[in-house]
Amino acid sequence: MSGPGVLAIVECGDPVLRRPAEPVDPADLRTSELQLLIAKMRATMEAAPGVGLAAPQVGMPIQLAVLHDGPERWGQLTEEERTARQRNGLDFTVLVNPTLRLVDDPDQASFYEGCLSVPGLTGVVARHRAVRVEALDEHGPPVDRVFSGWAARIVQHEVDHLRGHLYLDRVETRSLSTTANYARLWAGWPAEDAAASLGFTLR
Ligand code: NI
Repeated sequence: MSGPGVLAIVECGDPVLRRPAEPVDPADLRTSELQLLIAKMRATMEAAPGVGLAAPQVGMPIQLAVLHDGPERWGQLTEEERTARQRNGLDFTVLVNPTLRLVDDPDQASFYEGCLSVPGLTGVVARHRAVRVEALDEHGPPVDRVFSGWAARIVQHEVDHLRGHLYLDRVETRSLSTTANYARLWAGWPAEDAAASLGFTLR
């Protein structure tokens, strides 16, 4: 087997996840070192498996994240659940030095999410349904793109990583569940059921 190696994922408690990441020098995007890092981050995300990975999660305190969502990540989600989450897929995307703005629609959606740096847990987080991102892509040109639905959730989660935030900072704490209990009790059911039983507010 050849190809880029899989990197170790940093878990919560490590300060690198709590420091704002430094901007990437655009000139560095032309170096083989940074292109190799992007390839390794992609391989690490796919192997985990996950739908996003930020550089601090592999111990690199720089503003770089990779994202990818598709049918191979949708597991046991029913068509109905996928529709409710507006989980329409996201092509492999690299965001460098992203800035995030809310679009006019102030609407938020609450769903369970998790993080490769917080293994074994999942919890409900309210996220904006749409965000506008200005960033550089992996080759340097600027991108200005609106993400909506589940893709917007992934983007907000990864940009949070670059600011030193974890989803744990935004989670409805009483919703926190082991992934085993989530699978046993809450997967496939409306979050309203979990909110009523566990005593948290759905925003
Ligand atoms: Ni994460």
